[in-house]
Amino acid sequence: MITKAGSKPLAPSWATPTVLMLISSFGVVFLAVYVLGQPSTAELPDQVVFVNPRSYAVLGTNGNFRPNGLSAPFFNPTNSSPPFFQAFDRDFLSILGPNPYIREMSSNDAYAFAHEAPIYVQATNEIFFASNAGGAKGNSNLDRNNAVNKINLTEVELALEGTGGVVNVSFTELNLSEEVQMTNGGTGPINGALLFANEGRGSLPANLALVDPHPPYNVTVLLDNFFGRQFNSLNDVKVHPKSGKIFFTDVPYGYYQHFRSEPMLQNQVYRFDPVTGAVRVVADGFDKPNGIAFSGDGKTAYIADTGVSLALFGANATRPATIYAFDLEPSSDAFVNRRVFAYTDAKIPDGLQVDTKGNVYAGCGDGVQVWNKKGKLLGKFFLGSTSANMAFAGDGRMVILAETKVFVAQLASSTRGLKLDVKIRS
Ligand SMILES: *[C@@H]1O[C@H](CO)[C@@H](O)[C@H](O)[C@H]1NC(C)=O
Ligand SMILES: *[C@@H]1O[C@H](CO)[C@@H](O)[C@H](O)[C@H]1NC(C)=O
Ligand SMILES: *[C@@H]1O[C@H](CO)[C@@H](O)[C@H](O)[C@H]1NC(C)=O
Ligand SMILES: *[C@@H]1O[C@H](CO)[C@@H](O)[C@H](O)[C@H]1NC(C)=O
Ligand SMILES: *[C@@H]1O[C@H](CO)[C@@H](O)[C@H](O)[C@H]1NC(C)=O
Repeated sequence: MITKAGSKPLAPSWATPTVLMLISSFGVVFLAVYVLGQPSTAELPDQVVFVNPRSYAVLGTNGNFRPNGLSAPFFNPTNSSPPFFQAFDRDFLSILGPNPYIREMSSNDAYAFAHEAPIYVQATNEIFFASNAGGAKGNSNLDRNNAVNKINLTEVELALEGTGGVVNVSFTELNLSEEVQMTNGGTGPINGALLFANEGRGSLPANLALVDPHPPYNVTVLLDNFFGRQFNSLNDVKVHPKSGKIFFTDVPYGYYQHFRSEPMLQNQVYRFDPVTGAVRVVADGFDKPNGIAFSGDGKTAYIADTGVSLALFGANATRPATIYAFDLEPSSDAFVNRRVFAYTDAKIPDGLQVDTKGNVYAGCGDGVQVWNKKGKLLGKFFLGSTSANMAFAGDGRMVILAETKVFVAQLASSTRGLKLDVKIRS
């Protein structure tokens, strides 16, 4: 670990990359190790700590091992307190840029008002998101819908200018029609509207719905059944960046959170064509398919499998906490060539976003984890607590949902989310 605050680097900056010859007590060269891209202390901005994988490869017989990946304490072999950036690879620094920060911008100790479905609307500089549906501090259950909330980022900008530390900008709840029940996934804007995946509540169906981001926040439901059968509880949704078709995941979290009945369909990924109205399955074989994202060229799909988490039914660390990558079969959009993309050390990977360079961001048990397109862990936006999802909010800015808190991160101005230029016809 190297901190700007001045702990000693493992290798001098001229040793990049350096072949270290480690010589045993017998004088035999037994290992040659590349210290790849070890940055010097001076290169690291404030709030960035470099964690060299070699520094924790061996914890030893009296090592401080974690019991599992399910809860805090999460992996933090540094002296820094969250929030801060853990860099595992030099390439993380170009994502962060020269003046990165991560700051708390809004909070409510009693209410998980900021769980999922983040959507940034550039026209009004607002971020929309949903409160926790059925979970801890969610203020929602079988008898009570969750909420879609928004924060005005212009107010956040003004507040941040006024002080160096935490700010606390208030959020506003949207008054939505009864059709929108237990919102959990979101993307867009698409056709100028927010696209939500709603889990349904009781007998009220799960659905995909467009919501106008301006008062009176009118709603258009796009899909609420599979050939007459209700979905279990739709979890997350993305629009394919080239075709405009809508892909979404269905899992029984509504059942595991006691607001939906027993699952009646297997856990799988669907494609909805808003032009023809046709719906089909494009991938199965998951434990619990959850977050979804595409690469900018639309050729690679990512699905986060949150098999570890059964929500109110408990957790099982031997199940998947895995992001899978797929190719899209061009004639059918079926997900083929499934491979492991990444496995998180911190509970589950939940919501997924991809930037214009192909880096993949996942909301995990300890914050946001970032991999390059090859699945190499570059770094973490380390919160020490769960983030279910995050969204780019303009060039070089990300808003991170963390249940009772929302954070804003400043990144390199070249770090940005995919532009969704497709229009859907419905
Ligand atoms: C922000 O305000 C909410 C109440 O509106 C409160 O629960 C929370 O503790 C405040 N956060 C901070 C950091 O003061
Ligand atoms: C956001 O806040 C700014 C500053 O208070 C205000 O001028 C603007 O009208 C607000 N935007 C919306 C959409 O309410
Ligand atoms: C919310 O909208 C409904 C109609 O959709 C209306 O009857 C109700 O008064 C509104 N509530 C608030 C607080 O604006
Ligand atoms: C909301 O209503 C306006 C005005 O009728 C319409 O243009 C817009 O498409 C509607 N949006 C949604 C998401 O239903
Ligand atoms: C955990 O999951 C594994 C794999 O599905 C299963 O074999 C095992 O019984 C589960 N353990 C518990 C305690 O449920």
